[in-house]
Amino acid sequence: MRLDVFTQVPHAFAWMTEQRPLAAVLGTELELRLFNYRDTTPLRAGQVDDEPYGGGAGMVLRVDVVAAALDAVYGDAPEQRVIALTPQGRPLTQAVVEELVTEPALTLLSSRFEGFDERIVTHLCSDAISIGPYVLSGGELPAMVLLDAIARRLPGALAEGSGENESFSTVLEGGLEHPHYTRPAEFRGWSVPDVLLSGDHARIEAWRLEQSRARNAVS
Ligand SMILES: C[S@@+](CC[C@H](N)C(=O)[O-])C[C@H]1O[C@@H](n2cnc3c(N)ncnc32)[C@H](O)[C@@H]1O
Repeated sequence: MRLDVFTQVPHAFAWMTEQRPLAAVLGTELELRLFNYRDTTPLRAGQVDDEPYGGGAGMVLRVDVVAAALDAVYGDAPEQRVIALTPQGRPLTQAVVEELVTEPALTLLSSRFEGFDERIVTHLCSDAISIGPYVLSGGELPAMVLLDAIARRLPGALAEGSGENESFSTVLEGGLEHPHYTRPAEFRGWSVPDVLLSGDHARIEAWRLEQSRARNAVS
């Protein structure tokens, strides 16, 4: 997959490229390209945003600036999905991640301050995604959230099998994962459930499914 991120803060992504799972798939399963709107802006002095029509606080990312950035990279209209990261987008879920991970290429647009000129979302994007019902200061963290969620679903990102049984997976009927325990088996009187020490894999699997279902019932 090729993932293009348009941002005003490309260096924010540096630490992530050195961490698994992203580091494990970069250059093989995933090509990550970072573009700064400022590098292609048609305005002077690297300007990318402007005051909102109708007044009000904050600056708005300009449609001509984003169009110039997309044109510089893709020439014509991009063939891949172009996703605006915005609190007004559809909510990000594991199902959305599974849908996106099948794409050969994706473009993520982030904004800052007051957000996008609405014409960016309606005319230059094919989709809009929110990572949750809260407001962050910029689209970089949402882009990283999506990047991480996608990267861990690519072949070679995780140890064999460790991405299959996770919360929201079909194996767990779309629900939450069961609890995990590790050594010591006893700590301050808090014990690990006996079944996990039994060595009886069928019982352990049945217990895990039951725990997962119980979590889903209360969530
Ligand atoms: C301060 S926010 C703009 C908030 C906008 N004025 C509003 O009230 O919905 C600046 C940028 O951060 C990103 N952002 C903030 N919260 C987000 C979220 N929950 N999901 C996705 N992107 C978000 C978007 O790119 C947004 O344009």
